[in-house]
Amino acid sequence: MQLTDIKKRMELPVIMAPMFLISNPDMVVGACEAGIVGTFPALNARTKDVLDSWMAEINERLQESKEADSTDKIAPWGINFISHSSNKRFHEDLQLIEKHQPPIVITSLGDPSPVVEAVHNYGGLVLSDVTDIKFAKKALEKGSDGLILVAAGAGGHAGVLNPFAFMDEVRSFFDGPVALAGTITKGEQVLAAELLGADFAYVGTHFIATKESGASAAYQESIIQSAAADIIYTPAFSGIPANYLIPSIVKAGLDPENLPEKAGLDFKKLSNSSAKAWKDIWGAGQGVGGTRKTQTVQEAVTELKTAYNQAKNIHQLT
Ligand SMILES: Cc1cc2nc3c(=O)[nH]c(=O)nc-3n(C[C@H](O)[C@H](O)[C@H](O)COP(=O)(O)O)c2cc1C
Repeated sequence: MQLTDIKKRMELPVIMAPMFLISNPDMVVGACEAGIVGTFPALNARTKDVLDSWMAEINERLQESKEADSTDKIAPWGINFISHSSNKRFHEDLQLIEKHQPPIVITSLGDPSPVVEAVHNYGGLVLSDVTDIKFAKKALEKGSDGLILVAAGAGGHAGVLNPFAFMDEVRSFFDGPVALAGTITKGEQVLAAELLGADFAYVGTHFIATKESGASAAYQESIIQSAAADIIYTPAFSGIPANYLIPSIVKAGLDPENLPEKAGLDFKKLSNSSAKAWKDIWGAGQGVGGTRKTQTVQEAVTELKTAYNQAKNIHQLT
């Protein structure tokens, strides 16, 4: 699938980012029906059988929506696949991708080439999630069609590069599809991402506080109450630096100022804590202050679209 075909089917140049334990078929379908790309991490489906049924469900529901209203723009959907030997379901999940043919596959970690081969066979698009220039070049060498630049401040495993610098440098050697990720919660920021040279804004944290989201009520409330000062960037919980909500760390009985350095998978042993990364220690990006209420995915997209169009009008952009 080409970038222009994808864009034609979208109401707004936004990809709802995949989020561990949060994204689910309702969010994906809600996003696509609202006219943005909906995605989820394959591993959110606890088994390969669950993944099989989730992917079938998404395709069926989106097909029904298209048949119900052919004038409506139903955006394509995508799946996030860990393209690394640490992924115990690597082969099974890749087979399911070949079976259900999600139009977009987002690779994280590792070498995307096995995924590229499988996805290109059915005409899908592969985007690779990268946090620096070295990984960006590597992903392109391995055949990825496009990049997702995860800039500083993004929720989850973020990079440390400023988005202006990151975008500009990537555009000096690549003119294909690029999504910019990190702290985007507003329609104006979606337009800003486009002005920097991105084809899409990649939005995660903002969709945690949606009715369809898998996040608990307490997690969603914490998103609504928090601001940038409540975010900490630490490798303590997963071994790779990521952004988390400080209130969840405190709630788990831990001192955010005295977290074990680089503890990663040994975190439990070192801290004597039973808290689990992502389930109890909540991920969120520095843009969290831009999310002040819980709404449906459709409402969130409508709000983003209204602000995006207003910003375009103010700046007299077509
Ligand atoms: C709670 C949470 C879980 C995430 N899980 C994943 C994941 O499983 N796979 C992945 O590629 N990215 C994951 N991310 C990163 C997002 O896909 C995206 O890059 C990020 O949310 C964008 O920044 P923003 O949150 O500031 O909008 C996660 C982010 C958050 C907040």
